[in-house]
Amino acid sequence: MNAYDNEDNFEFEQSIATYQKAVFHDKQYIQLCQSGDIFPQKGKNFYFDEDVQIAVFRDNHELFAVSNICPHQYAAVICNGFLEEKTVTCPLHGWIYSLESGKALGSNARLLTYHIFEDEGLVWLEQPKKTRPLWLENF
Ligand code: FES
Repeated sequence: MNAYDNEDNFEFEQSIATYQKAVFHDKQYIQLCQSGDIFPQKGKNFYFDEDVQIAVFRDNHELFAVSNICPHQYAAVICNGFLEEKTVTCPLHGWIYSLESGKALGSNARLLTYHIFEDEGLVWLEQPKKTRPLWLENF
């Protein structure tokens, strides 16, 4: 058994237990930060684990949460990407991803997406799960 065998395994390096949790519409969320911690047009990375890092963006008052790990070279750089019209451009080689779907424009690559919302000055994120990274699928 490895860390990916159990879907409910939350053994992240950064313990998820330190976050306040709540259930909204039958889905578990964690209280990620305060609204003021996410600046417009600038990504912020939330590190849970080498494989689970989540880049949060505020684009025209709307929040988006996607994997911080670009699948092109498994680089944790998406939070430093260029934001434009609900897309983020990876700063390393310029792959462009939709922040809504996570899908790369012009290829089948995809960033994981997470539901995120604000309520009374707090940011709530769908509780991330430890998932097997796509790049490990062939091993
Ligand atoms: S690592 Fe992101 S496009 Fe190459």
